[in-house]
Amino acid sequence: MEKNFKRTLVTCALPYANGPVHIGHLAGVYVPADIYVRYLRLRGEEVLYVCGSDEHGVPITIKARQQGCTPQDIVDRYHDIIDKSFKGFGINFDVYGRTSSDVHSKNASEFFRKLYDKGKFVTRESEQYYDPEAKTFLADRYIVGTCPKCGAEGAYGDQCEKCGCTLSPEELINPKSKLSGAEPIKKKTTHWYLPLEQYEQWLREWILEGHKEWRPNVYGQVKSWLDGGLQPRAVTRDLDWGVPVPVEGAEGKVLYVWFDAPIGYISNTIQLLPDSWEKWWKSEDTKLVHFIGKDNIVFHCIVFPSMLKAYGDGFILPENVPANEFLNLEGDKISTSKGWAVWAHEYLQDFPGKEDVLRYVLTANAPETKDNDFSWKDFQTRNNSELVAIFGNFVNRAVVLTHKYFGGKTPAAGELQDIDRETLAQVPVIREAIEKNIEAYKFREALREAMNLARLGNKYISDTEPWKVAKTDMARTATILNVSLQICADLAIAFEPFTPFATERLRRMLDIAPAWDELGKEDIIPEGHELKPAELLFAKIEDAEIDRQLARLDAIRAEREAAAKAEAAKQVAPQKEECTFEDFEKMDIRTATVLEAERVPKTDKLLKLTIDTGIDKRVIVSGIAEYYSPEDMLGKQICILANLKPRTIRGIESHGMILMAKQGDGKMRFITPQEALVNGAQIG
Ligand code: 2FM
Ligand code: ZN
Repeated sequence: MEKNFKRTLVTCALPYANGPVHIGHLAGVYVPADIYVRYLRLRGEEVLYVCGSDEHGVPITIKARQQGCTPQDIVDRYHDIIDKSFKGFGINFDVYGRTSSDVHSKNASEFFRKLYDKGKFVTRESEQYYDPEAKTFLADRYIVGTCPKCGAEGAYGDQCEKCGCTLSPEELINPKSKLSGAEPIKKKTTHWYLPLEQYEQWLREWILEGHKEWRPNVYGQVKSWLDGGLQPRAVTRDLDWGVPVPVEGAEGKVLYVWFDAPIGYISNTIQLLPDSWEKWWKSEDTKLVHFIGKDNIVFHCIVFPSMLKAYGDGFILPENVPANEFLNLEGDKISTSKGWAVWAHEYLQDFPGKEDVLRYVLTANAPETKDNDFSWKDFQTRNNSELVAIFGNFVNRAVVLTHKYFGGKTPAAGELQDIDRETLAQVPVIREAIEKNIEAYKFREALREAMNLARLGNKYISDTEPWKVAKTDMARTATILNVSLQICADLAIAFEPFTPFATERLRRMLDIAPAWDELGKEDIIPEGHELKPAELLFAKIEDAEIDRQLARLDAIRAEREAAAKAEAAKQVAPQKEECTFEDFEKMDIRTATVLEAERVPKTDKLLKLTIDTGIDKRVIVSGIAEYYSPEDMLGKQICILANLKPRTIRGIESHGMILMAKQGDGKMRFITPQEALVNGAQIG
């Protein structure tokens, strides 16, 4: 049963301040949250919208070390970039805090201390990797070595980026500290753990019994965690960047980033509302909704709620956690480290005035139920054939014609005809569908409905043709334009959550500021109301703009492929089994010269070579056509295995084998003496 809430607290996952945000972040978390918040506000509801930078965690310290600066420098830089990006897209949080702030440090520290005092933690001693030269414990990311699964060098202690497998530092072959290069040793250390298993039953009841309406991906992930059995989870780390653990004997330890980050939601609320924050976090009539990506589900549905439950003191729990799946880019996984992304701040520079287009496309393609793909062509098509051709075109026709025939004054509606009544009757139906979908966190479907409203208007004005009617019947023209303008006003309401910049322009043109409840009213714009001059709501996106973006991605792809090839080329095959000198002696290896060369018909790989071995002239069939043309081989001195038992290949008897060197990427080259030798010189 839907509870009666008085207000809504919306949180968005705190982005790590170690890089800019990209379209995956926007589509997964921030655009849907913003739609939800804007909708609630338009309905006149009380909402608090909280976010901020997540400024702790090992990747930030690694980046600082790589760049020769402090972690604080890194987070200062990215905090600003991210903050500006959000604002640029109209995502205006009530507070955008930072987990490196004093207010957070104090709050997170007190939170830990209270759980500690209440005996909610257990301690455990374990052996962890330690760098004897740098004299510090090593987070998994600080240990690198050879991946046991794919053999790649530079795999991290928690993951191999080459093959994507999850690892533990113990599994790495030849582990080395990233700090000093020393071989890490195991050393005992003690940490505090939250015994999650104690909350398992309660979590089952709260989520599996009580929140069956949560998205299947969220519910399913929670269920599988719970069915797998929960384990105590460490909430501290041996690191020097983070909130210090506020108990004696914990020198050199900080709170684990995933312990302090969600507390950041509370800290940021305290920062904004030091005297009234509890109303938002401790009132049963506040609805708490966490917007996150799918990789954050366990922390928001299991760990953070268990922390709040352990804390008690009236903290509320989320009413819903609408987590999205991931967005891919042009068919490939978005990757910050590989540069495979569309960065929010770069988009804002490249497409000024088109913030809404990205919001629109990311919502129309939102990865709500499965991973989805962003492509620049689809972006262009959705802009040109939906926003421009339907929404923008309809509004433009209605406003321009009103200026033309009625001097910009809203004409009076006369008696309605069937088409008017039928069109207007659909508006409340669409409104209800938008509401139902937004309230169920189905933003993609809600947007489709909003676009149906624009389609309705566009069809209405095309079918009624006021520009023709105006030649004979001004009264009917007035009615058509009145109805059209009411639909424009409906669009100014319905699209506000999705495309706030365009609706702002539309509201300015129509000179109205309607609330959600007016959507579907037949006199939002009263007769005689004067319109402002027409402005374009959306502009066409030309091929050249899209080609520029595609060229940028092509360049990244080419660079990545070249790097992967170079890396693969370096891979050396392991040494073969031991052989004896006698084994080697059996092989008659010698120099020879290619006299004739031709392709073996109907094959891609084979060349037929006639060679002079110094002993005789013979034919060898060799699989080198992928690497050499017959012309390449002509006259070349090569090395051959002369006494290989003859074999018939494609009907040609082959007497020997050419010696080739093969790289890890498969590239092959024949071996040639450093200076010309007689044919038949023995190699050994
Ligand atoms: O995955 C991330 O980007 C995390 N920084 C999200 C943290 S959400 C919250 F708990 F702070
Ligand atoms: Zn690997």
